[in-house]
Amino acid sequence: MNGFPAGRGRAPRPFDAVTLAAMYRRVSVPEDLPWHRDEPPVFLQQFIEARGVFGRALDIGCGSGETAVYLAGRGYQVTGVDFLDAPLRFAKALARQARVQISFLQQNVLYWDAPGLYDLVVDLGCLHHIDDRMTKLYRRVVLRALTSNGDLIIGHLATPISGSYNLSVPLPRCRTVPAVRRLFASALRLREHAVEHVCDSNLGRLTIGFYRFTRSL
Ligand SMILES: C[S@@+](CC[C@H](N)C(=O)[O-])C[C@H]1O[C@@H](n2cnc3c(N)ncnc32)[C@H](O)[C@@H]1O
Repeated sequence: MNGFPAGRGRAPRPFDAVTLAAMYRRVSVPEDLPWHRDEPPVFLQQFIEARGVFGRALDIGCGSGETAVYLAGRGYQVTGVDFLDAPLRFAKALARQARVQISFLQQNVLYWDAPGLYDLVVDLGCLHHIDDRMTKLYRRVVLRALTSNGDLIIGHLATPISGSYNLSVPLPRCRTVPAVRRLFASALRLREHAVEHVCDSNLGRLTIGFYRFTRSL
């Protein structure tokens, strides 16, 4: 058993895709998703406001597009990637409504090469859906996408969730600060870390660790 559902002649999809697809099927509006929040996390907002310069931004696991739209509204040229079509439909509608241009791509980031370099790579909630055995692929895509002076922002589950998906599949992984730091060892340096309570939902209280990495030059 390798942690994947049996493939039918196609490349295996990560097991979490089953859970996530089911969660998106249950909602008709993104506001009903258990991780939805009305505002971008404070950590991200403060960083973006202080950063001042714009450039190209990549949103990994962009979901229903709130972060991508927020960044586009701040002057970034944004690419949002998600492996499911349901969140991308929400994301495209949100971008249209906000009148911003965003390139949304349906890709599994683990088997993908980003089309270029990005000054900012953001992942709010994707990494904790990636199994330890696959994080090498995640590291590869991030390191290849980030410019030499780029910033990587990650939001990752900081404490185990107490609620249930009511689905017999794994819950998102909770990783410690040293574990997240180790993922990028020798390539990126952790510059900032903070923990934020993001929202309460049927998954319980979502407490997210936010990380900012840059290249360790
Ligand atoms: C918890 S949601 C967070 C969505 C969004 N970033 C937000 O903050 O609302 C995680 C998202 O990552 C996507 N995702 C998970 N693993 C992925 C992968 N390997 N490739 C692309 N997208 C992935 C899921 O489809 C889902 O939309």
